[in-house]
Amino acid sequence: MSAAALVLAACCSQPKFDGPVYLNPNAPIEDRVEDALARMTLEEKVGMTTAQSKFSSRGVPRLGIPEVWHTDGPHGIRPEVLWDDWDQAGWTNDSCTAFPALVNLAATWDKEMSYLYGVSIGEEARYRKKDILLGPGVNICRTPLNGRNFEYMGEDPYLAGQMVVPYVKGVQEQGVAACVKHFAVNNQEFQRTQSNSVVDDRTLHEIYLPAFKAAVQEGNAWAIMGSYNLYNGQFNCHNKKLLVDILKGDWGFDGVVVSDWGGCRDSEEAVLNGLDIEMGTWTNGLRGAASDSYRNYHMADPYLKGLREGKYTTKELDDKARRILRTIFRTSMRPEPNYGRFVCPEHYQAAREISAAGVVLLKNEDNVLPLDVPKDGKILVVGENAVKKMVVGGGSSNLKTAYEINPLEGLQNAFEGVAEVEWVRGYVGDTSTSYNLVDTGQDLADSRSPEVLIAEAVNAAKDADYVIFIGGLNKSAHQDNESTDRYDTMLPYDQQDVIDALAAVADKFVVVNISGSPVSMPWADRADAIVQGWYGGTESGNALADVLTGKVNPSGRLPFSIPFKYSDGPIRTIAQYPGIKEEGDQFWQTHYSEGVYVGYRWYDSRNIPAQWPFGHGLSYTSFEYGNAKASKASMTADGTMKVSVDVRNVGACDGAEVVQLYISDPVASVDRPAKELKGFEKVFLKAGEKKTVTFEIDAEALSFYDMSKSAWNAEPGEFQAHFASSSTDVRATVSFELK
Ligand code: BGC
Repeated sequence: MSAAALVLAACCSQPKFDGPVYLNPNAPIEDRVEDALARMTLEEKVGMTTAQSKFSSRGVPRLGIPEVWHTDGPHGIRPEVLWDDWDQAGWTNDSCTAFPALVNLAATWDKEMSYLYGVSIGEEARYRKKDILLGPGVNICRTPLNGRNFEYMGEDPYLAGQMVVPYVKGVQEQGVAACVKHFAVNNQEFQRTQSNSVVDDRTLHEIYLPAFKAAVQEGNAWAIMGSYNLYNGQFNCHNKKLLVDILKGDWGFDGVVVSDWGGCRDSEEAVLNGLDIEMGTWTNGLRGAASDSYRNYHMADPYLKGLREGKYTTKELDDKARRILRTIFRTSMRPEPNYGRFVCPEHYQAAREISAAGVVLLKNEDNVLPLDVPKDGKILVVGENAVKKMVVGGGSSNLKTAYEINPLEGLQNAFEGVAEVEWVRGYVGDTSTSYNLVDTGQDLADSRSPEVLIAEAVNAAKDADYVIFIGGLNKSAHQDNESTDRYDTMLPYDQQDVIDALAAVADKFVVVNISGSPVSMPWADRADAIVQGWYGGTESGNALADVLTGKVNPSGRLPFSIPFKYSDGPIRTIAQYPGIKEEGDQFWQTHYSEGVYVGYRWYDSRNIPAQWPFGHGLSYTSFEYGNAKASKASMTADGTMKVSVDVRNVGACDGAEVVQLYISDPVASVDRPAKELKGFEKVFLKAGEKKTVTFEIDAEALSFYDMSKSAWNAEPGEFQAHFASSSTDVRATVSFELK
């Protein structure tokens, strides 16, 4: 052997490993799992299936198999909490990078942004030694009132499915399991632990499951969190149909099912119906118990007792233990450890870029944006959301962040030395500044009356070159907040009065609505420009300023429809939402009787205009579509075909268009929505540049879930492929046939 070959052989061959197989990082994972399992006692296996603290579950100390550390999720790494409590523990090294809310990510319609998000948050989780990241969430925005819409990816299963996959991959490449939540049909916070979602199979498969399925089958998600609610009359953390039949059966999921915190309600069902790790159960004696109260969990001592008494065999137990071991060998005991990184310039930059890419320009009359302020001019900013820090609050996604740039600071940074940026309050909304002992350090108290605040704003607006109202919702109860829903789609705190008063005096009037769910805008024609901003995290204000100043050309698109008013939407009865609890019933029944007509599927099919349609968003440039074509006139169910369209940037500046592909099936044996999103691509085009955007169509894109066959069905006949700039702005259509 030559000297060079010897050197090569020496550095490439694996060192001989003398220890047990499960500890050998280079052994195949399944061998490690079997080896570890064979060494474990019954008690050790059972031990792994429950929490040992608020956010950790047991390993096998005797064998040196580490405990599993879970963390929220999904927008940053939650501060360390007390062993048995939700409150932060007061560590001083756990202030994270807050990434934009997932609805902001969905609004980018950009899979690369999703991957960047996944890698960045995965690195933060890894640095903080977390093994399971509790997110992302992909529950469909069924009602604009759901308090957790901001944590999810919009109203369309295809969009959510496409956007969740790169996030999951990015996280897991860092050796951290993404725990996709909340499985499933968990679309409201009202009575979330007491409500039974009544959904037919077609609606389940077409609307509520596809994003989870994509996360599992395309993203290879290593963990799934069961939701609090019931489906089919059974709690979802141990729901046989969802977990055993569909997730682990049909989809072949080989990871762990983690309960939502306190979502496990029954020992026998938990054992038999697919739950692997029970977290957060509020069993008697958890607080103030003399000894280890986690032993009271449904899958702790009661499970052990059942095994010893012969009520259960070890079949389910070994399956659970295998899944948990697999998770550990994929994460903390993975072959190629990396150590992640935390609060670094790259993560701040990622947060800023993602947030800006999701800001949606809803309206821009006379090109009032981007801001064009004369030297030494004045911008008046009005509104609480210009200053309120939004990373704190909202429930389990609450974060302690290294810093947070609010919109006012973002604008002040952008106009430093150029123009004056003045702020007045306008209205008093929510003055709370802390959550689970995390405090923003702000003092938002203000006892002035609405009349005084409005008069102050109107007065300051008179000599301003631009007036920018920055309002919307916040993370408090009955806003965008876990465990409560909103009451209505209108702006709270009488913000409309402030908008009306400013519109009457402002020269150029811009409204920025910051929210995580749809807000109706009856005042829209009184604003020159309207921007939909989101909870953008650490770099929120800079990202918003990037778009307002034109440093970033807006390219966000709405991930949900915004109705003129709540009653325009598909939810028409209280049986649909919030549900009905009959006398003597234990649970609320929530009937998803609108079926597949969720979001734009409803508005389009019923010819009811939404105020701002799904997929809508303007740019500072404009785009022309042309030359739409199909690669052939027909396809067969086992084949594919291509459709393409040319898109040209016909404006004066560079920008990005989101080309959306919707499919219609005009004649079908079942009632189908007027059109459904089946493809999208964000294309960046220099001024004057043209690109061809091509989509591949297969039978899946043409199918509906046929309840008579319990299977997907693509019926032969004519289909249409629409190339569109939003769900209501179709630019070109081609027809083809499925033979
Ligand atoms: C939420 C989950 C969260 C968990 C842990 C629950 O209340 O529903 O989304 O991951 O708490 O904080």
